Amino acid sequence: MTIQPNQFTSLQQQYLVKINPAEPPILTELRNETASHRKHNMSIAPEQAQLMIWLSQLIQARYYLEIGVYTGYSSTAMAMALPQDGHITACDINVTYTDIARKYWQKAGVSAKIDLYLQPALITLDHLIAHQKTGHYDLVLIDADKTPTPHYYERCLQLVRSGGIIAIDNVFLHGRVMQAEQARDSESIKILRQFNASLVHDSRIRMLTLPLGDGLTLIQKK
Ligand SMILES: C[S@@+](CC[C@H](N)C(=O)[O-])C[C@H]1O[C@@H](n2cnc3c(N)ncnc32)[C@H](O)[C@@H]1O
Repeated sequence: MTIQPNQFTSLQQQYLVKINPAEPPILTELRNETASHRKHNMSIAPEQAQLMIWLSQLIQARYYLEIGVYTGYSSTAMAMALPQDGHITACDINVTYTDIARKYWQKAGVSAKIDLYLQPALITLDHLIAHQKTGHYDLVLIDADKTPTPHYYERCLQLVRSGGIIAIDNVFLHGRVMQAEQARDSESIKILRQFNASLVHDSRIRMLTLPLGDGLTLIQKK
């Protein structure tokens, strides 16, 4: 019997859930609560969180910077995975979303590891650069508004240590960056298309884009 492509994707998904590490119950609860309250769930996919955790353990990360907290799926997952003396700097602008994140940080017993800056992320990143945090972070996730992505990237490259990793989520913009260019393309599509194409020529980094979730780019600073 031939398996059709869409059946294969769903079978593969179920099989991966069976053989990979299980999602901790608190993250399942967070994911379900987010799905029940929000029409468009913007959390990273569980398999993306698993990859981030795996990478953080591979590079023995202690300091994690997150741009885009939302209801806290990625930050809670990372806080649970970081060592006892690990720390998260978290950036968002939305109190309603991040109040849910705070609730889960509390439930997971990781609130003490996380500082949340509630202001546009570019302001926070400039503040961190001005306060001697360059080369400080081991791992970064960029997962917020898309138009400033190149600006987030340049600042994060200063903030991450050599050998550290920057992950950027949603680099496919739900497939829109892959379509042929059109006059009515939004600013974010144009910017992300150009940004995605530029990374492979950036001699400061090693990069790879994976078809995980809505496209996840992994960047290691040389
Ligand atoms: C895709 S969601 C983040 C998902 C999160 N990483 C998770 O796994 O649950 C994007 C978040 O970016 C935040 N955001 C949008 N613009 C921002 C800005 N200029 N500065 C900081 N955060 C911003 C939104 O409020 C939203 O919570």
